[in-house]
Amino acid sequence: MKESTIYNCSVIELNRIHKRSGNITVVENLKHIPFEVKRVYYLYDVPGGGERGGHAHKELNQLIVAASGCFDVVLNDGKNKKVVELNRPYYGLYVVPGIWRELINFSSGAICLVLASEKYLKEDYVREYSEFLEWKAR
Ligand code: TYD
Repeated sequence: MKESTIYNCSVIELNRIHKRSGNITVVENLKHIPFEVKRVYYLYDVPGGGERGGHAHKELNQLIVAASGCFDVVLNDGKNKKVVELNRPYYGLYVVPGIWRELINFSSGAICLVLASEKYLKEDYVREYSEFLEWKAR
């Protein structure tokens, strides 16, 4: 989706089932998020202050959640940039395809949970920023 912009990305406030013994947040396909989940993965043991990401996806939709701790997501569509701080497990950042993203400022012990619309596909990645800009401009 090379026409997408960062304004197509949004923070989704998820539900919270609150109990004194702890909270639960539920995510269901097409109900709480606008896509069907085919894959879940999570990043952990990222050193405090660390960074990940630095790529774009051509077709993949993602919901990024700070399941524990916090980090910042830098979204960039080649023209506009914004930084979204994720620091609560009941907020999900919906990232549409065609957005360059960087995950920065990981707190130590943070867990970045990602719900993804497709299985892992190497060919879906754009890993060079110059290539990303070229693809967006095409
Ligand atoms: P990558 O998406 O590049 O992580 P980051 O951009 O956060 O540094 O993935 C790192 C490695 O893990 C890469 O070699 C591909 C592999 N990987 C899989 O095999 N399957 C997956 O579902 C994911 C997300 C990554």
